[in-house]
Amino acid sequence: MKYTFVTLFPNLIEGYFKDSILKRAIEKGILEIDYINPRDYSTNKHHKVDDTAVGGGAGMVMNPQPLFDALESLKAQDENVHIVFMTPVAKPFVQNDAKRVAKKSHIAFVSGRYEGIDERVIEKYADEVFSIGDYILTGGELASLVVCDAVSRNIDGVLGNADSLEIESFETPLLEAPSFSKPQIYEGLSVPSEYLKGNHSKIRSLKLALSEAKTKFFRPEQLKKHQTQSH
Ligand code: ADE
Repeated sequence: MKYTFVTLFPNLIEGYFKDSILKRAIEKGILEIDYINPRDYSTNKHHKVDDTAVGGGAGMVMNPQPLFDALESLKAQDENVHIVFMTPVAKPFVQNDAKRVAKKSHIAFVSGRYEGIDERVIEKYADEVFSIGDYILTGGELASLVVCDAVSRNIDGVLGNADSLEIESFETPLLEAPSFSKPQIYEGLSVPSEYLKGNHSKIRSLKLALSEAKTKFFRPEQLKKHQTQSH
């Protein structure tokens, strides 16, 4: 998978790939990262990339010209690139999206800064738009990293242990049961005793009960979905 980050601030993104799982995936040749800075495409003599909003409104909006030219050059390099815009005005990104777009060969994440991106750019170039949640970030960079990370876990070879992809939260409506590590008792706090007895069917039913309790507390609407599905 190749990721191209279209951003005015590549430094905000680069550090994330310098450690841990995604660094290893780059070293193994599974992932490739590239950056395009729309400022490099600005025809303005001061390399300006934004302006006040036509029709009024607060803040600066990213102009179409640098982004049109940047995205044309990207499409000329790879006509199959899947272009994703990060904006709070979009469908919320969920696990199924992560699994679906993990099958693409090249994803470009376009991050807006200021008050947003001229809508004509989105109209012309977006294959899809994602929001990562109902809050406003100072720019799309963090959002693009969130999506990139969640997608990457679903690409073969990125996670060391393929098992960890098997049953995860959000692939069923239930939240995952709690996990415990060693020692069995730490500072007087014990792992649930059923986890220690080795009866796998009992462990499974306890985990299901704990999943349901967590889901009921944190995400009651998901529990309803689970109950409808399992009847
Ligand atoms: N840019 C600013 N806020 C955002 C959000 N919540 N999701 C995606 N992109 C954004």
